[in-house]
Amino acid sequence: MAQKNKTVYICSECGAESLKPAGRCFTCGAWGTVQEEIRVASTASSRTVTAAAKPTRLRDVSTAEDPRILTGLSELDRVLGGGIVRGGVMLIGGNPGIGKSTLLLQICETLGADKRILYVSGEESARQIKLRADRLGVNSENVLLLCETDVDAILAAIDSESPDLVIIDSIQTMSLQAVASSPGSVTQVRECTSALMRAVKAADIPLFIVGHVNKDGAIAGPKVMEHIVDCVLYFEGDRHSSYRLLRCVKNRYGATDEIGMFEMRDKGLVGVENPSLALLSGRPVNVSGICVACTMEGSRPILAEVQGLVSPTAFGNPRRMSTGFDQNRLALLLAVLEKRAGYFFSNLDAYMNVVGGLWLNEPAAELPVALALVTALKDKPVSEGVAAFGEVGLTGEIRSVSQADARVAEAARLGFKKVLLPYHNLQGLAPRNDIEIIGVKTVRDAFEALD
Ligand code: TYD
Ligand code: MG
Repeated sequence: MAQKNKTVYICSECGAESLKPAGRCFTCGAWGTVQEEIRVASTASSRTVTAAAKPTRLRDVSTAEDPRILTGLSELDRVLGGGIVRGGVMLIGGNPGIGKSTLLLQICETLGADKRILYVSGEESARQIKLRADRLGVNSENVLLLCETDVDAILAAIDSESPDLVIIDSIQTMSLQAVASSPGSVTQVRECTSALMRAVKAADIPLFIVGHVNKDGAIAGPKVMEHIVDCVLYFEGDRHSSYRLLRCVKNRYGATDEIGMFEMRDKGLVGVENPSLALLSGRPVNVSGICVACTMEGSRPILAEVQGLVSPTAFGNPRRMSTGFDQNRLALLLAVLEKRAGYFFSNLDAYMNVVGGLWLNEPAAELPVALALVTALKDKPVSEGVAAFGEVGLTGEIRSVSQADARVAEAARLGFKKVLLPYHNLQGLAPRNDIEIIGVKTVRDAFEALD
């Protein structure tokens, strides 16, 4: 029996479907995200009987010839877990202008040496891309450009050109004619991704997809898109700082939480091999309100400068503001400092900032944040040779954190003379003579050990 086309309402945040329009999504509670879509009835009358698919034995699956393809940007290779995997689908999200198109065009030069690359752009004209390629020094003869938004035409081009790598910039501009909704809608994004994935998986070609992000910073479109791809990367960073962080949040072929750091220069993105050094350069010396934090980004220790500022409140309600650190945790830390350690902030505004556009969401950043605020409060200059890490508990105790060894080693490598860490981390630590290691039990201990 032929079915009629059906109107459904789909939330662009979470992908939930309903039959009625709504100002607010019933499932995720987001406002103004429910969009109308026409679902075209399938013409097939009933399922035809197909031959049974034949499974293979897991241990017979060959993985021998799976060399990683290196992109020429070592920071990108690190985040991908050692290079591109054949047949892998990688999604790159990030704010507009952060450098997604630049990054993908840049890797064309190295990969184009011996591989055919199909670069599909639905956003820019061929001329614009050529101008950018000239600036980036991309001149390989193996890079094929296609300015197209129709996925059927792109699939045909993949078939006829048989490239070794496909880049789609961006998925929100692509559309399939068979799907009756507008480009960028939940159904289009999902269907286009699946169609492209089927094509590249069958031919064992790696695929990069650029995805836009919504106002909360998550990749716009259905969450299901993140589930079906092999690797999800986010390009982050402060628009006003030239540093960019490429963060991996999902990787079927490597560790997640790995980050790569880039600097945007006039000739494109350049990998930053030594992030701690870059982040700490130009640090003021002998001033109060500064503490260097030893944080871990994936398997990589990074030292970052944390700044605090305290000033008298002009109005009744003190302000708490943070950049690069969760505001609620800042409020919580201030409460702990006040109640458990006797540092009073209640009639003071407190501000804090992490230098270089880095976002510290690790608990180990709490001790340096607390120390930056307390030294700002007491106006006590901090020696430039001191770094710290540790989690601050609600009773004011400093709790142990993971990978203390790697953090201490990074501080010593950069010439720090003293590191303050949780007392309970001392046990597992190898003795060192290039850096003084001080175990602290409370925030007050840490403050007193700063001298
Ligand atoms: P782009 O790659 O177009 O961003 P996205 O695709 O993520 O939207 O980013 C371009 C930005 O980077 C733009 O603001 C200009 C800047 N830029 C440089 O500073 N140097 C360069 O060599 C290039 C190509 C871009
Ligand atoms: Mg772009």
